[in-house]
Amino acid sequence: MTPDSLFSLAGKTALVTGGATGIGRMAAHGLMAAGARVMIASRKGDACTATAAELNELGLPGCVEGFAGDVGSENGIAALVQELENRTDDLHILMNNAGRTWGKDLGAFPYGAWDKVLSVNVTGLFHLTQELLPKLRAAATPEDPARVVNVGSVMGEVAMGDGAFSYAASKSAVHHLTRILAKDLAKDSITVNALAPGPFVSNMTAFATADPDQRERVGQAVPLGRVGGPDDIAACLQFLCGRGGAYITGAVIPVSGGINVMTGPPIFEAALN
Ligand SMILES: NC(=O)c1ccc[n+]([C@@H]2O[C@H](COP(=O)([O-])OP(=O)(O)OC[C@H]3O[C@@H](n4cnc5c(N)ncnc54)[C@H](OP(=O)(O)O)[C@@H]3O)[C@@H](O)[C@H]2O)c1
Repeated sequence: MTPDSLFSLAGKTALVTGGATGIGRMAAHGLMAAGARVMIASRKGDACTATAAELNELGLPGCVEGFAGDVGSENGIAALVQELENRTDDLHILMNNAGRTWGKDLGAFPYGAWDKVLSVNVTGLFHLTQELLPKLRAAATPEDPARVVNVGSVMGEVAMGDGAFSYAASKSAVHHLTRILAKDLAKDSITVNALAPGPFVSNMTAFATADPDQRERVGQAVPLGRVGGPDDIAACLQFLCGRGGAYITGAVIPVSGGINVMTGPPIFEAALN
């Protein structure tokens, strides 16, 4: 029962979609640090190979390979699966991290921003998982299940959309699919869990986190007083994907610094002052 025996990922192969940047990169880093061979794929294949080269320079126990892959269409998913198969027979861990968003005020939210977001965040997540089930089943045992980790959002958990209507709804769908798939796949020894992150620095949030002053202000709106960082994501992956996480499925982990339990002002305070 040492940290190594509970959280080591030596001998495991993982795929992280959208792994070149932001939360996906933090996850790839954490999986690699625990010894996994990590594939990262997104539309910008060059960014994936560049990130892989940077992470491999760190001298950690595992390794990273990057290639182009698009989860936003049926053909894209087929090509991604083919490329994965060209590289490996094994897949123990799938992290469905690729995602996109759209923000616009209520009243001006564009019709097209539903399909653009849901096709990646929900349809892509579901169909990539479905296509990879044979590989995950082959890697799974009751003692050491295969693992699927989906990336949802605190915006899919609480009524806080910030104008990202289709995004928030898509992330709620991710959480619900996580529970449905966890139920269906338990008999195959595949666990399915989700992360529901709060604010992390990434391309998606660069409009509000790229500048240190802005990031500080975003952090002040979080109960635990800061934006999330790479360790917060890496630790979740090492826990959920290591032997220590083998008995957990259907969980939606609130990596949001307490935003998940924020509510409005105290109900009785106004009457007492
Ligand atoms: N940052 C936050 O505060 C936050 C909070 C809660 C949840 N999340 C979630 O975390 C995940 C990662 O986002 P991020 O914040 O790290 O932003 P990010 O840096 O923009 O990462 C998103 C990644 O998804 C990839 N991607 C987008 N469309 C894709 C497609 N069709 N096929 C394959 N890959 C695609 C992008 O790469 P390409 O452009 O190369 O395709 C990019 O690497 C998302 O699911 C997001 O919703 C983020």
